[in-house]
Amino acid sequence: MRVAPETPRDRAVVDPVLVDPVRVDAVRVERVPVDTVLVDTRGRAMRDLRISVTDRCTFRCVYCMPKDVYGRGHAFLPRSDVLTFEEITRVARVAVAHGIEKIRLTGGEPLLRRDLPVLVAQLSALTTPSGGPVDLALTTNGALLARQAARLHEAGLRRVTVSLDSLDDATFMAMNDVGFPVAKVLRGIEAAQEAGLGPVKVNMVVKRGHNDHDIVPMARHFAGTGVVLRFIEYMDVGTTNGWRLEHVVPSAEVVERIDAAMPLEPVPPQYPGETSARWRFRDGGGEIGVISSVTQAFCHACTRARISTDGTLFTCLFATGGHDLRGLIRGGASDAELADAMAAIWRGRADRYSEARGAAEPLAAHGHRIEMSYIGG
Ligand code: GTP
Ligand code: 5AD
Ligand code: SF4
Ligand code: SF4
Repeated sequence: MRVAPETPRDRAVVDPVLVDPVRVDAVRVERVPVDTVLVDTRGRAMRDLRISVTDRCTFRCVYCMPKDVYGRGHAFLPRSDVLTFEEITRVARVAVAHGIEKIRLTGGEPLLRRDLPVLVAQLSALTTPSGGPVDLALTTNGALLARQAARLHEAGLRRVTVSLDSLDDATFMAMNDVGFPVAKVLRGIEAAQEAGLGPVKVNMVVKRGHNDHDIVPMARHFAGTGVVLRFIEYMDVGTTNGWRLEHVVPSAEVVERIDAAMPLEPVPPQYPGETSARWRFRDGGGEIGVISSVTQAFCHACTRARISTDGTLFTCLFATGGHDLRGLIRGGASDAELADAMAAIWRGRADRYSEARGAAEPLAAHGHRIEMSYIGG
């Protein structure tokens, strides 16, 4: 991977609300040069920021928030622990000055966060050091999307990814475990397309014996609609979902099964470090993707940082510990101090959990791994 050389710079990150816009632009160009990127110990730049805006969800997907752990008595984060929109935007602004080009809002279910379009508007106003817009996307279970799609788009959201594991109500309800019907998610997907939040992507987590019979029907359903369907290998993220290797359907098998019914050909990656390997239907009916975090890990090009709902920075989805940015912010740290802390964390990063697991190397993660609904998918 080619990484731009680091150049010395003044670390001050100017607060745009405190100074007039003309001067901000001038300062940004001078002090945050375009080719400044943070690079970790394996040469990976920090480019994507995934922000979890709530640890709550309306679903209890068996692979993510199993009911026996996330039942009625479960203690979610108290409101005082949750980052405010202003705090999130501040962290994001500092991260963007450090090279972040893509921000994805996740959860839990992000559409449960009250007034989310207000946050979207704040984040969509951020610009990269070269003056370009940030690619702002959101991952949702789709339940509340039909109602909110137009407002989110107006606020500046560019794209959405919707999770949908089956087209069959019985299978889908067994997976979301709250009896939520497929039709409402499909309405959410249509609303997102109509609102201009495309290309809409759909994520299907494939769990053997649960929904793998739906691989080909899902591919058929979305072919020719403009929706990009992605099949995700079931991951051992967190410690509560009872993950077993035999539940994983390798992406190679997914591609084989679809290809037998609807011939496919590979498509080159759109950008380095893309999570998904792309395939297109030979008849021109669009494309699918496979995300092979178990059988073909992509850690070598992983440029993703994650901020949990309570403002902890994690450098890997499988991390056992993170870095408390909220404490810094609420303790009165300046933007420059926040920027320095972020830089030190990323420069020290060595994570490659999925590759180490694939190579059967002894895993660093002996501790309690973080749950996906908290750290953000
Ligand atoms: P776009 O290409 O911008 O649409 O985003 P993306 O490919 O990152 O897609 P998305 O955010 O929808 O991620 C898809 C899924 O890939 C997630 O829900 C995770 O299951 C998995 N994934 C994303 N990032 C990582 C990662 O850093 N490590 C691992 N192991 N899995 C990841
Ligand atoms: N393995 C793979 N994907 C998962 N997701 C949640 N838990 C897992 C898991 N254990 C996916 C969801 C959603 C995204 C946020 O992460 O289906 O698309
Ligand atoms: Fe909620 Fe998404 Fe987790 Fe399902 S996968 S429980 S929809 S956060
Ligand atoms: Fe990145 Fe960690 Fe996922 Fe590897 S396992 S791709 S380092 S988040």
